[in-house]
Amino acid sequence: MGRYRIEGGHRLEGRVRVQGSKNAVLPMMAASLLQKGTVILRHCPRIDDVRCMEEILRYTGARTWWQKGDLFLDCRDIVTGKIPGAYADKMRSSVFLLGGLLPRLGSAFVSYPGGCTIGQRPVDLHLSVLRALGAKLTETGEGISASAGRLRGCSHHFPKISVGATENGVLAAVLAEGKTCLYNCAREPEILHLCRFLRRMGAVIQGEESGTIRIRGVSGLHSAEMEVPADRIAAGTYLLAGAATRGEVALEGAPVAEIRSLLELYGKMGGQYEVKGGTLFTDSRGIGNRPVQVATGCYPGFPTDLQSPLAAVCATIEGISRIRETIFEDRYQAALELRKMGADISVRDGELQICGGRLRGAALRAGDLRGGAALILAGLAASGVTQIENSCYVERGYEQIEKDLRQLGGAVRYEKTSRMPVYADTEE
Ligand code: UD1
Repeated sequence: MGRYRIEGGHRLEGRVRVQGSKNAVLPMMAASLLQKGTVILRHCPRIDDVRCMEEILRYTGARTWWQKGDLFLDCRDIVTGKIPGAYADKMRSSVFLLGGLLPRLGSAFVSYPGGCTIGQRPVDLHLSVLRALGAKLTETGEGISASAGRLRGCSHHFPKISVGATENGVLAAVLAEGKTCLYNCAREPEILHLCRFLRRMGAVIQGEESGTIRIRGVSGLHSAEMEVPADRIAAGTYLLAGAATRGEVALEGAPVAEIRSLLELYGKMGGQYEVKGGTLFTDSRGIGNRPVQVATGCYPGFPTDLQSPLAAVCATIEGISRIRETIFEDRYQAALELRKMGADISVRDGELQICGGRLRGAALRAGDLRGGAALILAGLAASGVTQIENSCYVERGYEQIEKDLRQLGGAVRYEKTSRMPVYADTEE
């Protein structure tokens, strides 16, 4: 457990390499359970969520190890499908294990998953697609028990778009008997990456870019390897860190096509960018007096995960910015924490209203992963020193944010503390 100590006022300038994607790799790790060989995930981010999922896989009987930046998952001997609370409630993504374990073992139990304190995090959409595929599910006080013979292909319409439920449905369907058609699926890039990975393992999947995913079940999958794609949210966070300090930040390997909505907004804010040789060069010197008006949305809309980092930048821009969160109803806490830095921020008619100005260093507390990153961005832009408790949230998703920001000229230090996190244990 630690805290970040930031001396604000240093303009960011330089280049960093974008880490592998957290949200892409977690379902891929669950997918490794669907085969009986060794999966290799190259350029895998060394973040706490990956370590946590690795621990869960080990608990089920998988052998895991690292070679440099590559993660190896040997899933020959999976011995249990019961994931107790001590593992599952550490992360929201533990719910993917139902889709990974059920086809493999015919039964599974996953304790209720944790999740960031960013609003209600129900799992009804996950359960409905598994039921449609023929799983028998029972919810006990502690978690979800699932059993099935071989799952059966089905036609299922998601009543609401969900990234995780789409991924769970795809995981469960690739080994089901017959054809599955999933309608109203999420189209986030991480779903495309998961389908690409499953195809490498021998799955037959089509249509994932369209929102209607067609799967022909196969009787078995084989091992595969894949480069974990670059993290669009980490790339967006660093771009916005540049914007907060009016800096010039180059992002090597940034997934430019996946952050179009951010780049469009960045251009409207006065930022300039160009892509050369796989690197995104950003120039934020023109940012400062064009406030923002944006609503978060499903992909390709503006990502909810960048809402709080964007709010931190808006707090430094003259004029009134408005940001509406449409995915998670309770995701304004980090922005409101910025009030301790002198920011004029309120929630009006369900949207954030930010009247930008100068920020001053303060003692802050992170309560979720992206919100924690947003506080760091505000600290970089503020005058004086900012201290942010609960680094554990940030460490779940960023490989080495303090090191990357130092490389860009930011004065960010990580300090070890013995304190436990002050808020409930959470994750995205
Ligand atoms: C994923 C991402 C997270 C991102 C989010 C939205 C991972 C590990 N996490 O989360 O970073 O912020 O997508 O882009 O990939 N919902 C239900 N019932 C369900 C499931 C979801 O009502 O069974 C609701 C949620 O409360 C939310 C909305 O659907 O309001 C979207 O959530 P979802 O797309 O499922 O997000 P996650 O997959 O949890």
